[in-house]
Amino acid sequence: MIDNNKIVEILRGIQDPNSGNDLISMRLIDKLKVRDNSVSFSVNTSGMADAVKFQLHEAIAHKIQEEYPNANVDIHFTTEAGKVKPLAQVKNIIAVASGKGGVGKSTVSTNLALGLKALGAKVGLMDADLYGPSIPTMLGIKDQKPKIEQLYGKHRIRPIEKFGIYTISIGNIVEPEQAVVLRGPRLGGIIKQFVNDVTWPELDYLIIDLPPGTGDIQLTLVQTVPITAAVMVTTPQDVAVADAIKAMNMFRLENINVPIIGIVENMSWFIPDDMPEKKYKIFGEGGGKALAKESKSVLLAQLPLVTDIRKAGDQGIPIVLNDDHLAQSYYIQMAQKTAQQLAVRNEMLAPTQIVGVNVQAKG
Ligand SMILES: Nc1ncnc2c1ncn2[C@@H]1O[C@H](COP(=O)(O)OP(=O)(O)O)[C@@H](O)[C@H]1O
Ligand SMILES: [Mg+2]
Repeated sequence: MIDNNKIVEILRGIQDPNSGNDLISMRLIDKLKVRDNSVSFSVNTSGMADAVKFQLHEAIAHKIQEEYPNANVDIHFTTEAGKVKPLAQVKNIIAVASGKGGVGKSTVSTNLALGLKALGAKVGLMDADLYGPSIPTMLGIKDQKPKIEQLYGKHRIRPIEKFGIYTISIGNIVEPEQAVVLRGPRLGGIIKQFVNDVTWPELDYLIIDLPPGTGDIQLTLVQTVPITAAVMVTTPQDVAVADAIKAMNMFRLENINVPIIGIVENMSWFIPDDMPEKKYKIFGEGGGKALAKESKSVLLAQLPLVTDIRKAGDQGIPIVLNDDHLAQSYYIQMAQKTAQQLAVRNEMLAPTQIVGVNVQAKG
């Protein structure tokens, strides 16, 4: 007698040639039927070369035969291209965006990723800022290189694991001087590799740290992966808000349609190291609220400007990991609220669709 659960367990042990994840978590198996000594199911082999399909068939049949030597195994290959979703192993893909550089996107992305991890989730962090990658510095992995693996004859990039989250950045692959000369089509190609050639594990959240504004990278992303939601980062002053609205409008274009789930207002007030009870609103106020209203979303957090937040980023140990620092709770609350808003989004709205190729960037 063949055990249904045993078959699932076996298929969990076999890698999908496209993603490097297992066949079950990639949802490639369908119509699994077990009866007495027979088992049958279909495998979605869309995008696989014939030689790869052959190897995959061998691998599956071999593993089942190992466990059930006398089984009748009927494996049916299907190619329903539309049914294979890039990053199917990732439940939520969150883009962190802003109008301007230097507002704290990377700091927010990193602390958000680690905050969600602290809440018990499985988290990845993709550094999509190919011109100015700062995740390697913020996670203290500047000298690390991702491992390259062979999978069914193709090269795969294994994300770097640090503080329990998985990450990939151009800063871990090329030297900083090389990154600045990358241009349009090359950038898009790298982003596609970050999606398709990296063996991301099963994740609850993949945070994408975007470059500022709206450009080739943002466009490639919305055409390559179904982004569940976007979080906008802004500082409190009016000019930052005007830029953020432009960036936000790209996500809101009719055929892109990525919901904005909330606003993070960064550097809302300055807290001096020697007078922690003081609050100086050096960049004005109201920007986050205005943007939340404009986007019909919510303010996820107002974060203080504190020297230690900057230091923690530079030292590669983000502040959210510091149990002795007051700032930790700001980021944990931000992560909690982001998870809540995302749950609401998933309850109320349909999953995001990847957009067609003829979208023009605005702003
Ligand atoms: N709340 C904050 N308090 C202190 N420094 C901050 C804060 N947020 C960001 N920074 C610092 O400001 C600089 C720019 O932040 P960064 O996250 O790299 O911005 P972006 O990714 O938007 O360009 C970094 O040196 C970072 O450490
Ligand atoms: Mg950045």
